[in-house]
Amino acid sequence: MATTNWQRQDVTQHYLEQVRGGIPFGAEQAKVMLQVVNHFTTNPKRIMDLGCGNGFLAELLLKTYPDASALLLDHSEPMIQEAHKHMSEYSDRCEIIHGDFSQSIKKYAEQNSVDCIVSGFAIHHLTHEKKKELYLDIYNLLSEGGVFVNIEHVASATSEIERLHDELFIDYLASHNDKNRDEVAKEHYNRPDKEDNILERVDIQVEWLRHIGFKHADCYFKWMELAVFGGVK
Ligand SMILES: C[S@@+](CC[C@H](N)C(=O)[O-])C[C@H]1O[C@@H](n2cnc3c(N)ncnc32)[C@H](O)[C@@H]1O
Repeated sequence: MATTNWQRQDVTQHYLEQVRGGIPFGAEQAKVMLQVVNHFTTNPKRIMDLGCGNGFLAELLLKTYPDASALLLDHSEPMIQEAHKHMSEYSDRCEIIHGDFSQSIKKYAEQNSVDCIVSGFAIHHLTHEKKKELYLDIYNLLSEGGVFVNIEHVASATSEIERLHDELFIDYLASHNDKNRDEVAKEHYNRPDKEDNILERVDIQVEWLRHIGFKHADCYFKWMELAVFGGVK
């Protein structure tokens, strides 16, 4: 199994307690995900959440679609424990699996069987080659008309925009947690999971999706380095 700093208890806890709720436009990103899913699938029955964390995205989908069931995958044991707690209300409709999407995800579902695959801030830990392999696996698992939405940390076009992203992100986190900005900046620039990031620009990743065969592949929402993109099979 691939190792990342997400397998650490302190990294998991810091993210869930201080970062997830403070992500700029986090609510809007989730809303766009639901809008895109709803437009293309109307009533998905089978859902997958890759790198589920505590299940935040799967929860929104299961709440929206009472007939759906979901498979949640994460390679972090502490996150899996958080997902079991957070998703307890939906335990009859979700399967939470400790697994690694850097290995093929084909073993988790039949081809053409999943109506909706989502991921939040997770796939950018893979190398670009592995990202492309995963997008192909996702395409193969999706049913005809099935939809993939990735809420993701992507690369800036220039280092100056990257600097702007970081500074604005720190502003948002400091305000969300009512914390001293210098302290948040120090945490942000020295955070252990930063070294796991392998970012790519969203326009390039959308092109990869088109090349695989995804229809309507596009970036549906973007603020600085945070993008919502995907496509339809
Ligand atoms: C930033 S968290 C996001 C969690 C959640 N999706 C959300 O939107 O809040 C990234 C998650 O991806 C998981 N992850 C990273 N690489 C992974 C891999 N190769 N296989 C499975 N999970 C992975 C981490 O363990 C972590 O829980």
